[in-house]
Amino acid sequence: MFLTSGYLTTGVAISWTIFCITQDRDVQTKIQNEIDHVLKGRLPLYHDLLNLDYLTQVVKESLRLCPPIPFLSRYLTKNINLETSDDPLNLLAGTVILYPLTSIHEDEIITRNSKKFDPSRFSSNQFNIPYSHCPFGFGERICPAEKLSMIEIKLMVCLIMQRFHVELAMPLSKVSRDEKFILMARNDIYIKLVPRKGVEE
Ligand code: HEM
Repeated sequence: MFLTSGYLTTGVAISWTIFCITQDRDVQTKIQNEIDHVLKGRLPLYHDLLNLDYLTQVVKESLRLCPPIPFLSRYLTKNINLETSDDPLNLLAGTVILYPLTSIHEDEIITRNSKKFDPSRFSSNQFNIPYSHCPFGFGERICPAEKLSMIEIKLMVCLIMQRFHVELAMPLSKVSRDEKFILMARNDIYIKLVPRKGVEE
């Protein structure tokens, strides 16, 4: 369970985060400025990763738009009547509900201009609404590795961005989401790594 849950999830999260960064030159510059300022050319330590606030915002925004597990599921143990804007929805015990995270993460009531990649959303408190940002699920079955995964993703993105500029090395139109159990990229994601000037390899 730990192998299947822990391998592809963090892998695709890193890929989608780097892809998102390639799409915005300002975001890229801001991350690199923060990394240079905090690390001053050395390798990151655990406490550095906790202090890289902008990097955290970037990863959270990427997990909002590209949640590695795009659907969550719940098994109903009792009948539930859900209020809706139309007729109430009567759900029977034994039903399995499968629901897409995008329906929460891209809800315009919570997130204005929700399709736009904008890490600065996480500098304000708009995600204080419970469950408004839940790439790791919620409740009793929440992912037990949320903190570990955030560290893994931030570490990899930090090491890459410290040394390289990143460019998308394929037409944007070919980047396509394949929402299976894991959010894969149908044609993979090709990234060109351009060494940063003045940074030791
Ligand atoms: C970016 C990385 C990851 C994401 C986005 C992610 C997301 C999720 C989600 C959405 C769930 C279902 C939660 C729910 O139904 O409420 C889950 C469950 C789980 N995850 Fe993760 N996960 C990640 C990484 C990992 C890693 C690295 C491990 C292990 C080392 C792991 C282990 C598990 C396990 C064991 C469960 C099942 C928990 C249960 O059913 O009680 N995950 N994860």
